[in-house]
Amino acid sequence: MKINKLLVSLLAGVTLLGGVVQAAELSMVFGDTGNALAFLQEQLTRFKEKTGHNVTVVPMPSSTTDQFGQYRLWLAAGNTDIDVYTTDVIWAPQLADQFVDLTEAAKDVVADFFPSIIESQTASGKLVAIPSFTDAPALYYRKDLLEKYGKAVPKTWDELAATAKEIQDAERAAGNPDMQGFVFQGNAYEGLTCDALEWVKSSGGGQIVEPDGTISINNENAVAALERAKSWIGTIAPEGVLAYQEEESRGVWQLGNAVFMRNWPYAYSLGNSDDSAVKGKFDVTTLPIGKEGDTSAATLGGWNLAVSKYSDEQAAAIELVLFLSSAEEQKQRAIKQTNLPTRIAIYDDPEVAAAAPIIPLWKDVFLNAVPRPSAPTKVKYNEVSSLFWSAVHDTLSGNGTAAENLELLEGKLTELKGAGW
Ligand code: GLC
Repeated sequence: MKINKLLVSLLAGVTLLGGVVQAAELSMVFGDTGNALAFLQEQLTRFKEKTGHNVTVVPMPSSTTDQFGQYRLWLAAGNTDIDVYTTDVIWAPQLADQFVDLTEAAKDVVADFFPSIIESQTASGKLVAIPSFTDAPALYYRKDLLEKYGKAVPKTWDELAATAKEIQDAERAAGNPDMQGFVFQGNAYEGLTCDALEWVKSSGGGQIVEPDGTISINNENAVAALERAKSWIGTIAPEGVLAYQEEESRGVWQLGNAVFMRNWPYAYSLGNSDDSAVKGKFDVTTLPIGKEGDTSAATLGGWNLAVSKYSDEQAAAIELVLFLSSAEEQKQRAIKQTNLPTRIAIYDDPEVAAAAPIIPLWKDVFLNAVPRPSAPTKVKYNEVSSLFWSAVHDTLSGNGTAAENLELLEGKLTELKGAGW
């Protein structure tokens, strides 16, 4: 704790029932996507009213990859300035040693959460973080455009490509040169791992590294799935998609310039906001499949709250993570941000269903979502993912074929595994 932080906490001590309750000065890091930071500030105002604790947010880039790189450095250096970290679902095994075990603190509420999500945040026998919201992507589509051109909601990736091309070309000819068929996350970062895992898994190509640790990615179905994605670049997706993360895709979509978009549920409430060109014009469905007989695959995402082992305000930091993951706060988050709750009961709340119909609809999607291989590859996950997204990005950029890149990837993963994961 810095001296000025200590002074502020001392001065802010409030007297309650004759005893002194210390009002803490906390800081938390938070990646800003959409209007999530503004929503968090509202929550922190409520937290302050309730507890007296003041929380300063250190805003971080939206990219989970950039956040991870920074947090890993801070934690390795034993940074005492940050008390609470918002953590991606995939990080638990990699950062477990740096966070406080929340098992005891959460013992009265843990049964209200989906057991699978609690499990994902349990590593080395510790509850590393409390789940704040879960994530599973949707295929966003323009209802109005499908109707205008008499097209059905696509079931396969090839149907999506054909419909995207037809509508894109017709809309361009009708005077909108900016219209795109399909936008997604093609930048070389964790988001591309999510998108590409979906293309591969929904085409019978496995999940990169299987739950038992087998490296499965170098197979014909995966090769075909990546070649198919490559064929979208410059035809139904702009070349620029190779640099898109979630927010760039949403930007194009929300201006009304895309027929289809792959994105997470947060884009639902934003797309229906008053300043959105697509308000009321779109709907969501599950992501397409390769061919008849394949199963749709949505990558499991989600964000959690962890307390740093190096925090000297651990008690207040634990109060904060319990508050932010409480039933009332998750309900507000579901209604205002269309983030999927991690508490079971909220899916049956009629107010949530009325305000955010995607929430009850998406319960089964996230329950069947495909995890990235962070459990089998443990502390090596970030390297595994980065090798995968690089191979995919190279393929999409025309830098080697899918077959060549996946063969190289298999070799690199085998080497990594050989050194132990
Ligand atoms: C979303 C998901 C997260 C994932 C990220 C990739 O934020 O919740 O799990 O890693 O997207 O960009």
